[in-house]
Amino acid sequence: MGTVVNYERHGQIGVIRINNPPVNALSHAVRSGIVDALATAAADDSSAVVLCCEGRTFIAGADITEFGKPPQAPSLPDLLHVLDHHPKLTVAAIHGTALGGGFEVALTCNYRIALASGKVGLPEVKLGLLPGAGGTQRTPRLAGLPAAVELITSGNPINAQRAMALQLVDKVAEDNLLDAAIAYSVALVEQSAPQRQASALTLSVSTEDTDLIASMRAKLLKKTRGERAPQRILDCLLAAADSPFETGLKREREEFMACLEDPQSAALRHMFFAERAAGKIDSLPKDTKALDIASVGIIGAGTMGGGIAMCFAQAGIAVTLVDMTDEAVKGGLEKIAKNYAISVKKGRLTVAQTDAILANITTSSSFDDLANVDMVIEAVFENLEVKKEVFGKLDVICKPGAVLASNTSYQSIDAIAAATSRPESVLGMHFFSPANVMKLLEVVKGASSSDIVIATAMAVGKKIGKVSVLSGMCYGFIGNRMLRHYGREAALCLIEGGTPAQIDSAMESWGMAMGPLAVSDLAGLDIGYKAREQLTAEQKGDPASYMVADRLVEAGRLGQKSGAGYYQYDPETRQRQEDPAVMAIVAEARRELGITPRRFEDEEIINRLTLALANEGAKLLQEGIAQRASDIDVVYCYGYGFPRFKGGPMHTVESMGLDKAVSLLNEFHDQLNPEHWQVAPLLTKLVANGGQLADSHRD
Ligand SMILES: NC(=O)c1ccc[n+]([C@@H]2O[C@H](COP(=O)([O-])OP(=O)(O)OC[C@H]3O[C@@H](n4cnc5c(N)ncnc54)[C@H](O)[C@@H]3O)[C@@H](O)[C@H]2O)c1
Repeated sequence: MGTVVNYERHGQIGVIRINNPPVNALSHAVRSGIVDALATAAADDSSAVVLCCEGRTFIAGADITEFGKPPQAPSLPDLLHVLDHHPKLTVAAIHGTALGGGFEVALTCNYRIALASGKVGLPEVKLGLLPGAGGTQRTPRLAGLPAAVELITSGNPINAQRAMALQLVDKVAEDNLLDAAIAYSVALVEQSAPQRQASALTLSVSTEDTDLIASMRAKLLKKTRGERAPQRILDCLLAAADSPFETGLKREREEFMACLEDPQSAALRHMFFAERAAGKIDSLPKDTKALDIASVGIIGAGTMGGGIAMCFAQAGIAVTLVDMTDEAVKGGLEKIAKNYAISVKKGRLTVAQTDAILANITTSSSFDDLANVDMVIEAVFENLEVKKEVFGKLDVICKPGAVLASNTSYQSIDAIAAATSRPESVLGMHFFSPANVMKLLEVVKGASSSDIVIATAMAVGKKIGKVSVLSGMCYGFIGNRMLRHYGREAALCLIEGGTPAQIDSAMESWGMAMGPLAVSDLAGLDIGYKAREQLTAEQKGDPASYMVADRLVEAGRLGQKSGAGYYQYDPETRQRQEDPAVMAIVAEARRELGITPRRFEDEEIINRLTLALANEGAKLLQEGIAQRASDIDVVYCYGYGFPRFKGGPMHTVESMGLDKAVSLLNEFHDQLNPEHWQVAPLLTKLVANGGQLADSHRD
């Protein structure tokens, strides 16, 4: 019978094999299968037991689909209790990735042998959780406190060699893992090796260790801005010190339950699924095949073109970087090389690695060199006429079938496509700055973009390590269209009575990576200023929402690049400081507009800014510009510094309660500018029907 757990004998060694594709997740069937197999092994005359997995990996973690459902016995802790007290010597044989609960199983065996290509880790923190089956207690007992802090609070896996150096793995096998594991077990039995239990070790802690925990606590508080799971992990690790295993385990259980019930974990789990869902395009026929992209041309060697070139070159795709003149191209390449030199200095890459990456980039000042590339990404100035001219030229030069993408932030993909004779090959691929760092890629479907072209852009995005989200065509696409509303409310909170420091710190303490006005300073206030110059008074909207920004630019305060914007910047540290000159500009603007400043509570700032985002997000959803609410969350978390532990703007309103969100929106509508606060009909409808954003697709 094909069961998920099988037990067989290899001479004196009993072998428990788990076979639960695709990743041998610890489902109920697997847990109870292992308990049964352990009982069989306990009763037979085997001298030791090897625990191994079929398929591509050792147990890669809990069965995430069982989250939120009532637990079914045996639980993982039950299983590990049986394993820990098994009468025979136990050996885990690890290949692929032993993660989370999977690694906790391995840690509970007496010994661990891993294939050289194997990896181990405890990634629970990434879902706002902590290892809840002894991981926080066994890891420090085996590897020491500093290594355990790093492994569990980062959640990043380590390779077999590193795990062996940390004594988390006892032996590394080059190949034939099962044979090696059996031979290792036989050798251990012959040597009368003890049944080593991590749970029986004592962890003594030095003052250096406690200092480390204190400094990690402070570091993590800053880095993870209010995330609670990393702090709880530190508490558990401390509980492992100088106390019996059972005491630490009890503390771990309590902290695990607290994490599980914490809305932060719900948000992080939402993001886990959201990221995976984003890659799926509902309207695409199943048999749509992405084109193979082996070479790409990038036009414009400026800020964005350079970063995009790095993404492709790092993925081993040949890049031809084109700009108007040899000097411009040379300048662009020098910036790229400088970026890599910094990575080498920081120890992230070796010189040989950066040389190999740079060898993937060739440069040119002639479009003719793009005749044979599979894909072109245009990143020239944000000007429709210039872009149309570029696409007209590409149409003549590029081979048939080449994908022609624009990195435009706002221009119409349809207008750009109309400059070619092949609009089906044209689409938007909107990267975020710095393009080599930011994970988001908005793939923008024009009216004529073909399915194949869209599928290709999504696949290429994945290949270069981006999280791609499909957007329909509208001004600003998903992210920037919503951002206008967020930026408007930040500006209005300022002119109505807030200060830049209050607004930014309210949003930062709430969890945003950077407050809205500090972000404007970073991006450059001149960008919005120039964009507004092209708009009519009506398009520009309420003067209260841009008057201060205009005055700042006119006073030469362009943001960080000119040393001052909404703040003063220290030329050395770039640290921001409040500046009375800004408040004088604000006061003048208030006088001109007849606004009497009032006191602001942080809560109002947070509600106005987040609800402005979510309300526009709901409109995008209703118009079919975004495929699903979770895609919008992915856009905000990966492109705009929205905290993942809040789950994006749509998850934020969903978890606040849509009825509460709509009643706040209605309040804003009645008390503030009603044009800014037209409540999205989708939200009103969902409240009336008791529906959820998570389930709502296009009307
Ligand atoms: N900077 C951002 O934060 C950001 C983010 C996302 C998207 N974008 C978009 O990316 C595009 C580029 O922005 P950027 O910030 O990199 O601008 P940039 O000014 O830094 O670079 C533009 C480059 O294009 C070159 N160029 C201009 N016209 C050209 C032509 N006809 N042929 C070849 N090269 C030409 C210029 O010489 C320059 O090197 C714009 O459409 C912008 O909206 C920018």
